[in-house]
Amino acid sequence: MLASTVHAMAEQIRATIKAIKGTRDVLPGEAGVWQLVEESARDTFARYGYREIRTPVFEATELFQKTTGEETDIVVKEMYSFTDRGGRSITLRPEGTPGVVRAVLEHGLAGRGEVERLYYIGPMFRYERPQKGRFRQFSQIGIEVFGSSAPAVDVEVMQAALALFERLGVEGVSLQINSVGHPGCRGAYRQVLRAALLPRIDALCPDCRRRLDTNPLRILDCKVPGCAEARRAAPSILDHLCGDCAGHMTQVRRILGYLEVPYEVNPRLVRGLDYYTRTTFEITASGLGAQNALCGGGRYDDLVASMGGPPTPGCGFAIGADRLVMAVPASRAQTPGPDLFIVHLGEAALDEAVAAAAALRSRGVSVRLDPGAREMKKQMSRASASSARFALIIGDQELREGVYALKRLADQTQERVAARDWDALARRMRPVDPADPAGSFISRDR
Ligand code: HAM
Repeated sequence: MLASTVHAMAEQIRATIKAIKGTRDVLPGEAGVWQLVEESARDTFARYGYREIRTPVFEATELFQKTTGEETDIVVKEMYSFTDRGGRSITLRPEGTPGVVRAVLEHGLAGRGEVERLYYIGPMFRYERPQKGRFRQFSQIGIEVFGSSAPAVDVEVMQAALALFERLGVEGVSLQINSVGHPGCRGAYRQVLRAALLPRIDALCPDCRRRLDTNPLRILDCKVPGCAEARRAAPSILDHLCGDCAGHMTQVRRILGYLEVPYEVNPRLVRGLDYYTRTTFEITASGLGAQNALCGGGRYDDLVASMGGPPTPGCGFAIGADRLVMAVPASRAQTPGPDLFIVHLGEAALDEAVAAAAALRSRGVSVRLDPGAREMKKQMSRASASSARFALIIGDQELREGVYALKRLADQTQERVAARDWDALARRMRPVDPADPAGSFISRDR
C-alpha cells in the first residue's frame, strides 16, 4: 500500500474515532481536583468510621431489576445491558447500591447484629441524554450503612456528605428531606394520590399516565410542566405516614435541629429508585445549572431482606463526583506544582541532575527535570510554568565548586547549598512554616 494511502487512512481514523457520546477524558490539568475530591472523601468518611468496598463494574442484569426496580427510568430506559459470550445478561452498573448489597450478602457482612459502614468510589453508566453535569459514564462517591434503623444514622449519613462539601468549600449547599414511609403506609397513600390525580389524567405526560397505574409516586418528581401543574392538588405523603414512620421523621428532624443543620422538608422528594423506605434526601448546590443535585440518598430497610438476606436496615447516599468537581471553587482546585525543578547546563551536569533527582525523590521531594532541554533560560521558564517552589541550578561552575544554586521562585531569592548533601537539601524543600507554604529557607548562610 502507498505511504500516502496509509497516511490518509490513519487521518480518517483520527478524525472518526472519538470518545463515545456522554463520556469524557479527565486530562492532567483537571485530574488534580478529582484527586482532591476523592482523597477528601476517603479522609472524611474514615473519620465517620466508614471502610472502602470495591465491587465489580458489571453485574447480572437481574440484580438491578430486583433492587433499583423494574419500573424505574434507570431499569426501563437507561441501562447498558448486553449478553456476554456465555449467554448471560450483564449490565454495566447504573448505580452503586445494588452491587454493595449483593457483596454484603455474598460475604456475610450483614445480619451479625453489628453496624457495617461502607463507602465506594467509582464509575457508573446510564444511557441518559448528555448535558452539563449529566454524562453516560459518571462517577459516584457513595456510602451505605447496614444494621441500624436509628434516625441518628440517617442524620449521620447526611452529615458525612455535608462535611465533605464544607471541607471542599462548595457554595450554596442546601439539604432537602422527606419520608416515603414503609410499604404499608405508601400503599395507602398511593390509592389517595391516584384518586386525586385521576381527574387530571389528560394533563399528565405519557410516562406519568402509565405511572398512574404502576407507580403514581413517581409523578411527584416528574419534571414535565404539565405534570407539575396537575400534582398541585396532590395530598402530601407526610400526612399519610403510619405512626412509626411519622415518629422516625420527627426524630430525624429533631436531631438535625439539635445539630443546627439547615434543611427543608420537601414532600415531593420521592426519588427515582424503588428501594427507599422512610427517609429520602437530596443535597443541591447553587451554580451547577439544571443538574444541581450533588447527592441523593435515603433509607432502604427492606432491600437486604428482599434479596434473601437477614432483615437488615440500610441507609446511604451517592454523590455525583463529576458535579462535585464542578462545584469545587477554582481557588481550591489548583494542582500544586512540584517542590523542585532541576535546571542543568552541560553533559556532566545532566548526570549530576539525574542523580540529584533520584536522591531527592527517594527523600520525599517531588522533582521535575527535563533532560532534553539545553538552554538555561528555557529551563527556568519551564520551572516557573510548572509552578515549582524551587529551582536547583547545576552547571559546570557548580560542579567544579561543589555547590549548587537554589532559587526560591516565589521571590527569586537565591542561595548556595552544598552539593550532594541530599538530606540537607530535602529538608530545605519542606515548608518550615505553615503560614509560609512556599517554603522559607531555614538559614540564609549555611
Ligand atoms: P441517584 O440519585 O440516582 O441515587 O444518583 C446520585 C447522584 O449521582 C445524583 O445526585 C447525581 O449527582 C449523580 N448522577 C446520577 N446520574 C448522573 C449522570 N448521568 N451524570 C452525572 N451524575 C449523575 C443513586 O444512585 C443511589 N444509589 C444513591 C443511594 C445510595 N441511595 C442509598 N444509597
